[in-house]
Amino acid sequence: MDVAEIRDLIARHQEQNGRVTAILEDLQRQCRYLPEQALRVVAGELGLPLTQLYGVATFFAAFSLEPQGRHRVSVCQGTACHVKGSVRIGESLEQELQVAAGQTTGDGQFTLQSGRCLGCCSLAPVVSIDGHAYGRMKPDLVEAVLSEWRGGDRG
Ligand code: FES
Repeated sequence: MDVAEIRDLIARHQEQNGRVTAILEDLQRQCRYLPEQALRVVAGELGLPLTQLYGVATFFAAFSLEPQGRHRVSVCQGTACHVKGSVRIGESLEQELQVAAGQTTGDGQFTLQSGRCLGCCSLAPVVSIDGHAYGRMKPDLVEAVLSEWRGGDRG
């Protein structure tokens, strides 16, 4: 996004008495992360210290200061999922995507993450892709699940 687009985004939120977090959510949705240059523009436009925006950006797990993939793949590491084999699911995802947890694939399609309990423990082990939960996962299902998101129906 260029500076004019960021200013437009801020203006739209200010018309609706938008909160800083709503502005950052919108910015991240469009950029897939919060670039430093964009945060500087937001800080200048709102008259806030840049450190305050970084404080918000680093407090909420939903925000990222690094470029994110088009799809977020999260392996639940909660107790129920751990007991049911989430470590092996994570290893299978790392092998299939050729990245470690916390990294983004070279084509920018996927960011692999470890997550907390998703609230559907009876389906353990669970993998979430862009908020869509896949329960009772098995390592040999990983390729088929990812293929749904690789330029397929959801891509
Ligand atoms: S522990 Fe994985 S969904 Fe609850």
